[in-house]
Amino acid sequence: MNELNPKIPNHVALIMDGNGRWATQKNKTRSEGHLAGTNHLGSVIETFFNYGVSHLSFYGFSTENWNRPKSEIIGIFSLLTKSIDSELQHIIDMKLKFIHIGSKQRLPGKVRKSLVDMERSTKFSDANGVLSLAFNYGSRQEILEATKRIIDKNLKSIAIDKNVISEHLYTAGIPDVDLLIRTGGEKRISNFLLWQSVDAKFVSTDTLWPDFTGQHVECILNSYNQM
Ligand code: IPE
Ligand code: IPE
Ligand code: MG
Repeated sequence: MNELNPKIPNHVALIMDGNGRWATQKNKTRSEGHLAGTNHLGSVIETFFNYGVSHLSFYGFSTENWNRPKSEIIGIFSLLTKSIDSELQHIIDMKLKFIHIGSKQRLPGKVRKSLVDMERSTKFSDANGVLSLAFNYGSRQEILEATKRIIDKNLKSIAIDKNVISEHLYTAGIPDVDLLIRTGGEKRISNFLLWQSVDAKFVSTDTLWPDFTGQHVECILNSYNQM
């Protein structure tokens, strides 16, 4: 919850789903669907932060998405680097701190570099908000890695509490999720921020991700208080 205004969620997490179905409906290829999914990205981000949300987390590629055809995966990776190139200045102008959440292992060097460069270029100490991108992310993987790191530190079991676990997740320092939105109509969490979403309100909207705009964002945020 936003301490200054309880009507505004502090941390919103978003599962961007429905690119494939959008493409099928329009007789286009899945890659065209993913490309269309990047169209409103800038204005959607802007709408959330202008509304007063301070943390926004997008789900871009899950650990389960490695099961997709290789050509589709390569297409998603190339779109990620292109989107970072085209959005970087916008993110800097909005003074948002960018964080990659997920594993850097297995990602191609170019993708890793884009993510790291974006993090480096947005290390504002007085940021207006935090934008996280979950890419090669899975909650179970995250909790597993956190557990290993805690064990490697030789911490005594008595010293381990919920805070210690939170501090070892990719999301260390980021508040819990208040509102989880999924586009595309499915009502699944799909291994996204499971630990962080214990108290989150959940909204599943039928709008497919490429059709999701700032107006949809405002509509959901306006109804947050009644949920
Ligand atoms: C979400 O759209 C994008 C990613 C998971 C990368 P989908 O590709 O899952 O689209 P649908 O669910 O098949 O419509
Ligand atoms: C969830 O979408 C993952 C991302 C948006 C990155 P999917 O389309 O991959 O999820 P499932 O497999 O249908 O739950
Ligand atoms: Mg999907």
